[in-house]
Amino acid sequence: MSSIPEDVFTEPEDFSPDTLANLGPLRRLAGEWESDKGVDISPKAPGPEQRGFREHIRMEPIDPQPNGPQLLYGLRYHIHINTEEEAITFHDQVGYWLWEPATGLIMQSIAIPRGQVVLAGGTAKPDDKTISVEAKRGDTRFGICSTPFLEEAFRTDYYRIDITFNDDGSWSYVTRTDLAVRGKTPAFNHRDTNTLRRVAAPAPNPMVGLLKSGKFG
Ligand code: HEM
Repeated sequence: MSSIPEDVFTEPEDFSPDTLANLGPLRRLAGEWESDKGVDISPKAPGPEQRGFREHIRMEPIDPQPNGPQLLYGLRYHIHINTEEEAITFHDQVGYWLWEPATGLIMQSIAIPRGQVVLAGGTAKPDDKTISVEAKRGDTRFGICSTPFLEEAFRTDYYRIDITFNDDGSWSYVTRTDLAVRGKTPAFNHRDTNTLRRVAAPAPNPMVGLLKSGKFG
């Protein structure tokens, strides 16, 4: 049975404009984060390569987002990674983390400049200390789309991220990206992990600022 209401057009009217107060399990991701302790395992012609990396993440609260009756709160994020040896970008990623309070749905969208997008999904409770989302190639809801080159040479079959919120306010992640590298089996586990510490608190979402200034209309 579908949990989607008959009326898919009418948007909720009486909801809190304050994203920071309604992010559920995602509230501990809001703000600006850094770490130079990241570890990447990626595919290279001679075999897996392990590299340490520096990571900088911004997660900014966005205004509440209705999809008809569905109401989402979220963060827009940008991840920038380089290595100690080189200032040039090692990995760049943008997207949204989203939370639907009514159902406990969490989603992460990913766009990376290799020509690849992912929408990963999962469920969580507001006070969970660990959260996970996953996506599978071929799934039209939580799936992975890649450029023809990647489909042929580094086909991405599966993605997941597991996040743990630590007691000291930092958070750790492990990502698993299964790459079917052309001519090689089994699929390669492209793995990344890091623990981020907060370097700046988040600013409230734009709607909250406008309401305070009296300019919202
Ligand atoms: C901390 C995060 C990540 C870092 C540091 C990272 C880094 C790298 C590196 C160094 C390579 C080796 C190829 C090269 O030298 O260009 C690579 C390959 C690749 N990564 Fe990642 N990656 C990360 C996350 C992801 C994610 C989340 C995805 C997709 C869901 C992804 C998809 C790929 C693909 C498809 C390739 C193979 C393409 C190629 O080698 O040209 N990566 N990554």
